[in-house]
Amino acid sequence: MMLTVHTILELRQQLHAARRAGKTIAFVPTMGNLHRGHMSLIEEAVRQADLVVASIFVNPLQFGANEDLDSYPRTLEKDQSKLEFYGCHLLFAPSAHEMYPRGSDIQTVVEVRSLSDLHCGDSRPTHFRGVATVVTKLFGIVQPDYAIFGKKDYQQLAVIRQLTEDLSLPVEIIGVATGRANSGLALSSRNGYLTESELAIAPILYDTLHELATQLKQGERSFKELEEQANQHLESNGFSRDYVHICRQSDLHPAAPGDHLLVILAAAYLGKARLIDNLEVILN
Ligand code: PAJ
Repeated sequence: MMLTVHTILELRQQLHAARRAGKTIAFVPTMGNLHRGHMSLIEEAVRQADLVVASIFVNPLQFGANEDLDSYPRTLEKDQSKLEFYGCHLLFAPSAHEMYPRGSDIQTVVEVRSLSDLHCGDSRPTHFRGVATVVTKLFGIVQPDYAIFGKKDYQQLAVIRQLTEDLSLPVEIIGVATGRANSGLALSSRNGYLTESELAIAPILYDTLHELATQLKQGERSFKELEEQANQHLESNGFSRDYVHICRQSDLHPAAPGDHLLVILAAAYLGKARLIDNLEVILN
């Protein structure tokens, strides 16, 4: 049976007993509305540790003023049964007041500098500060040995790796491959915002990344032109542009022609949704 707790105190009590019994802990933070992509993180957590802890918290700090905090799907009961089925032992589902009792305006924040301003951070200026703050706080609450994140949110994973290193947090960060629908579309809670016709178009985002990767592998190195072509291809298919960036995997800065380990990061608007995706590309 999986146990759900809503307060930090209850969670600490549960974890204290497990830790005293010598159990290792793997932690999977989420915002709920769970899908198969999230479940692959739970499966990885089950492989890594004795005790699997998940959290569901729609974190107000990481949403911008005009974003979807209020409409973000909340499906606790369904999420609980999925988590239990996949072998999660303990679910932490706090209220906003439990997490930010002083109110989010005067909460201490964690800022991962430089990396947080690029890519998604450019379109969502306070987003990664909200993510870094909540993840640091959750690490303090759970004190996991391992924490599992999806590569679907590639920049988020990089931000979390950097904060863990910069603050010397004693947790091992593990990245898991993106779970996709048969169409190639990356699974996301926000796909629920798409209409049926938009859902038919959405896989073009991933297709576009593959087309770009093919051109890179053929030796094309005019990165700015390739990015512009990809944006135009998306626009001609009904997306509104946000960005397509060819980056170095190491620090997510713009790739230079001699780089070998690249990742293409992309975001685009489709109807009410802002979709993100990425593709790692290794060049010889
Ligand atoms: P959320 O979007 O719910 O995602 C929770 C975790 O699931 C993240 O690590 C994310 O990268 C991963 N994930 C989402 N879709 C995935 C997919 N298709 N395949 C594999 N993994 C996927 O990301 C957040 O919540 C929040 O920012 C959080 C880290 C919980 C902080 O609030």
